Amino acid sequence: MSKLFEPFKINKLEIKNRFVRSATVDNLGKDKMVSEAQLAFYREMVLGEVGLIISSGLFPSLDGWTAPGQLGIHQDDMIPSLKKLTANVHKYGGKVAAQLMHAGWFGNPKTCGLQPVGPSAMFNPANKLECRELSSDEVYEHVDDFVQAGRRAYEAGFDAVQIHGAHGWLVSAFLSPVTNHRQDEWGGTAEKRANFVVRIIEGIRKLTGPDYPIMIKLGLKDYHPQGKTVAEGISSIKRFIKAGLDAVEVSEGVEEEAFHHIRKDAINPYYVDECRQARSALNIPVILVGGMRQLAEIKKVVDGGIADAVSMCRPFIMDQHIVQKFHQGKADSSQCTSCNGCIEWMQKQKLHCVFKEKLIEN
Ligand SMILES: Cc1cc2nc3c(=O)[nH]c(=O)nc-3n(C[C@H](O)[C@H](O)[C@H](O)COP(=O)(O)O)c2cc1C
Ligand code: SF4
Repeated sequence: MSKLFEPFKINKLEIKNRFVRSATVDNLGKDKMVSEAQLAFYREMVLGEVGLIISSGLFPSLDGWTAPGQLGIHQDDMIPSLKKLTANVHKYGGKVAAQLMHAGWFGNPKTCGLQPVGPSAMFNPANKLECRELSSDEVYEHVDDFVQAGRRAYEAGFDAVQIHGAHGWLVSAFLSPVTNHRQDEWGGTAEKRANFVVRIIEGIRKLTGPDYPIMIKLGLKDYHPQGKTVAEGISSIKRFIKAGLDAVEVSEGVEEEAFHHIRKDAINPYYVDECRQARSALNIPVILVGGMRQLAEIKKVVDGGIADAVSMCRPFIMDQHIVQKFHQGKADSSQCTSCNGCIEWMQKQKLHCVFKEKLIEN
């Protein structure tokens, strides 16, 4: 018997199966607030039996806001709008986590009116923008922004919170020797590079209590020749666990080729080897993202002990009911070809799969 449809726990949160929706900026918000289109998108994923939905990346500070239709969690007046989202997911019996995502050097001055920021001043070849180095006081302010955002997630009724610590965005940039050249308490050694995350986790734990699930999406290693190693990734997670971390979703860190984590044409799981290493070294649930398409391969990940659960992004843009179809034996593979056509539509604030006319077909 496969474990895929058996429950598992993150801290005290019981999740009914091993399928997670990985965080997906849908760009469908209206003036930083939740829209009807988003309520419908999440409702369909719940009806389609997704065990845990991780929200779109929510920005915790204004300078971390990148896409115009992205949702904010940077101020208390965002809470009522976010509550609509969590209440709607709960009404249909689902579970939803808030992802806290600061764009860092992917910040967009056209959207937020501010220069991108990071641990060190650098030119980002992907957006051709200069990123400004945060002063030590500003680093403390950004830690507090994340902590307050975690508190808002809790107050808005999210079942869990996830820190976005992957893909070169702000948190991931602090963790990498490629993007963090500081020589103060936030950089210079692997341990100091991890301090930014440690302080965020400690702060959220203090404000939300012992039972609130705190997760991180993390690159165990950078996909960059000068990047951090898997060993460094695993030892940083051990420190995060001491600070209060409950689960890790394995992705990639700083990328030599931007958006390498949304691999074109991928139809098989990636990060399998490093995830296996994390799974055997850690005593918290490990979730693997990237390229999950075929049920047989997904089973190998969970039943083969590579990860406790799998997460997917693009398959749910194509079909919010794919998990239910797997469960009912109506599909043995997602039809998503990883063509990445949906990303262009997301940028135009009209997210949908190019093989379907609309995001929600009903
Ligand atoms: C439209 C789109 C938006 C995304 N937004 C986020 C995001 O907000 N936060 C995040 O951590 N990853 C984001 N990702 C990356 C996915 O969560 C996932 O890591 C990646 O697409 C690989 O998984 P997949 O093969 O199942 O698509 C996004 C990907 C896409 C295609
Ligand atoms: S456009 Fe459709 S098939 Fe292509 S990656 Fe997006 S969801 Fe998958």
